[in-house]
Amino acid sequence: MKFQEIKNNIYYCGLNDCDRRIFDELIPLEHGTSYNSYLVKGSEKTALIDTMYPPKTTEYLKRLSENQIGKIDYIIANHGEQDHSGSIPALLEKYPNAIVITNPKCAENIRNMLHVPSEKIREISDGEEISLGDKTLKFIFAPGVHWPDTMFTYIKEDNVICTCDFLGAHYTFNDVFAVESEALYKSAKRYYAEIMMPFRMMCKRYTQMIKDMNVDMILPSHGPVHKNPSYILDAYTDWTSDNPKNLVVLPYVSMYNSTKEMIDKLSSDLEKAGIDTFKFDIVDDDLGDLAMALVDAATIIMGTSMVLAGPHPMAVNVAYLAAVLRPKAKFASIIGSYGWGGKLFDVIINMLAPLKLDLIEPIQIKGKPTEDDFKKVDEMAKIIIEKHKSIGLL
Ligand code: FEO
Repeated sequence: MKFQEIKNNIYYCGLNDCDRRIFDELIPLEHGTSYNSYLVKGSEKTALIDTMYPPKTTEYLKRLSENQIGKIDYIIANHGEQDHSGSIPALLEKYPNAIVITNPKCAENIRNMLHVPSEKIREISDGEEISLGDKTLKFIFAPGVHWPDTMFTYIKEDNVICTCDFLGAHYTFNDVFAVESEALYKSAKRYYAEIMMPFRMMCKRYTQMIKDMNVDMILPSHGPVHKNPSYILDAYTDWTSDNPKNLVVLPYVSMYNSTKEMIDKLSSDLEKAGIDTFKFDIVDDDLGDLAMALVDAATIIMGTSMVLAGPHPMAVNVAYLAAVLRPKAKFASIIGSYGWGGKLFDVIINMLAPLKLDLIEPIQIKGKPTEDDFKKVDEMAKIIIEKHKSIGLL
């Protein structure tokens, strides 16, 4: 297949991976993903920006041959993670005159992870430029979105920026240019939630930086190219905002429905008061949907049954995930039911501690909820309503 030209001798040479269903052995993929690679043909030199996921290397090299790209002078490694750097050793075999251009942290990573020899790597500094003749590549270090080794490559004359994982989406396509659909928005938000949200403040900073650059296009390493940069930059401005939305997220695991009945009652109370709720069945639902809800939530209320003498392990798993994703939520609590005894809350409270949430008094009941237990849930709802009012959400 012929490479699609993006702009003035800049070509898309990445690949879709429609069958991939999970990323990092953690994140379900609704639409597979793409591994984007960009060929930049200058009047004197040719550069390849980012490469390919190792299992796709053979197909990738075949496509480069089919497109008769000729020589490659520079392989730009914007990031060491192997979905982008994995084909560098094979490329260096096929194009022995090529040299890898990257930053010192990424150089260390590709030496360690791919055994790329030091003599094949040229380390550049932040802001450094290299000339391809009629095109100039400028390297902008962007540590934190999402690895310490991440950098962007700006193609000056064309005013386009390759942002690596930042501003991407796990999404596949036939035409490389973004079609601004609900499906793409959701994929980009899910991707932000799972990959970028732990680095929200850095995302905020680079979003503003790229806005200020007023680029013509954004070329990420996953998902389509944005001809309309404000589409994805405005979305990131919203997602990285310090202000949560009027939303309570309710992840729960309930062995005999007692915990679920209380979660349902709390959700109903809150909805009646004008607060959006998102109930999440920890056993059956997709973790990506929970991560997306956490982008906006002001409050997290966990529901858990007791297993042996502690919270259900799957609830602990979700509390851990919530803590590492570092959402902007302000308030939290726990609801749960037990059969014969134990401590339901301590483990989850400790898990959530890094988020420094304002903790609302938890509710622990024995067995199936009674009218008195539901009154306690009503009281919790009233407290949440007051908390949301206190930060201007109601
Ligand atoms: Fe898409 Fe951090 O790799």
